[in-house]
Amino acid sequence: MTDLVQKLYREQTLSKQELIELINCDDSAAERLRSLAEKVRIENYGHDIYVRGLIEFSNYCKQDCRYCGIRKSNLNCERYRLSFDEIMECCGEGYALGFRTFVLQSGEDAYFNDDRICEIITAIKKKYPDCALTLSIGEKSYESYKRYYDCGADRYLLRHETADKAHYEKLHPKAQSFENRRRCLNDLKEIGYQTGCGFMVGSPYQTDECIAEDLLFIKEFNPHMVGIGPFISHRDTEYRDFPSGTLEMTLRLLSIIRLMLPKVLLPATTALATIDPRGREKGILAGANVVMPNLSPVSVRKKYQIYDNKICTGDESAQCRRCLEERVHSVGCRIVTDRGDSKNI
Ligand code: 5AD
Ligand code: FES
Repeated sequence: MTDLVQKLYREQTLSKQELIELINCDDSAAERLRSLAEKVRIENYGHDIYVRGLIEFSNYCKQDCRYCGIRKSNLNCERYRLSFDEIMECCGEGYALGFRTFVLQSGEDAYFNDDRICEIITAIKKKYPDCALTLSIGEKSYESYKRYYDCGADRYLLRHETADKAHYEKLHPKAQSFENRRRCLNDLKEIGYQTGCGFMVGSPYQTDECIAEDLLFIKEFNPHMVGIGPFISHRDTEYRDFPSGTLEMTLRLLSIIRLMLPKVLLPATTALATIDPRGREKGILAGANVVMPNLSPVSVRKKYQIYDNKICTGDESAQCRRCLEERVHSVGCRIVTDRGDSKNI
């Protein structure tokens, strides 16, 4: 058997069959995979870990993704939206704590129409011209994406969720199409955003083939950022009884993505930290180089529950910042406070 870990390291890609074999490799191959991914992270980013301040400004959502706790048909979800002033306050607090990237994330909330979003972007970029602004607000038209970009948004996160059309259609209702998701991602890239895609590990009905397709899609799309984290069930969804994605598989996939796209920005996600108390540290050791602590006001944090048992919902921003600092140090790295632009250009 050829050594797939070495081959992936050398060629930065594998065939679908080889990827399926690699994600099922034994523990000793998994450790070689991890250690090469860590080496490649260090070659490209040294011991620097970038932080992004996440502001979850609304949990209203007109979409109905079957796995998600803030889906529109979850009537148990207590909805909230932050005001313009509250959003600016989150940024102010984040700036004082050293954040130079803000991620504005929300459900697809019609209240925040293009004029309101543009007003927020313009105000943040005016007050904090040295900061990067990332949007994560879902599927929009080309024209909307272009308007946000022209107001100063730098980056956009939109997970592709799954690269397998049949799987996509299992996870989403009919009104949400695989094709539109892809259209959005292509538009974002064409407009000039630093773009992020990604998927959940262990989502319902995901097969090894699906994962291999996800990896090949990511390689081909060549995004600046890739967000992956374990699926975690939410009690108010039809997938409440499905098992969560595993730590081991998430770490393997982080390492494979680091080897496929050596310069990509790769977060150790909150979902990963939710399934394992040292999830973020293990993610960094597997090749991740970004952490995204929450800057939302503590009063609303518990309400942004896309999955059960989400961590950090009771902690002030400053506590999270300190906590992360220690965690990052514990694996020999340091948090850097510049914009942390992608080197994957
Ligand atoms: N478990 C883990 N991740 C989830 N997401 C949505 N619901 C869940 C869940 N139950 C992810 C999706 C979405 C991102 C914002 O959160 O991938 O794109
Ligand atoms: Fe929020 Fe640790 S990062 S408490």
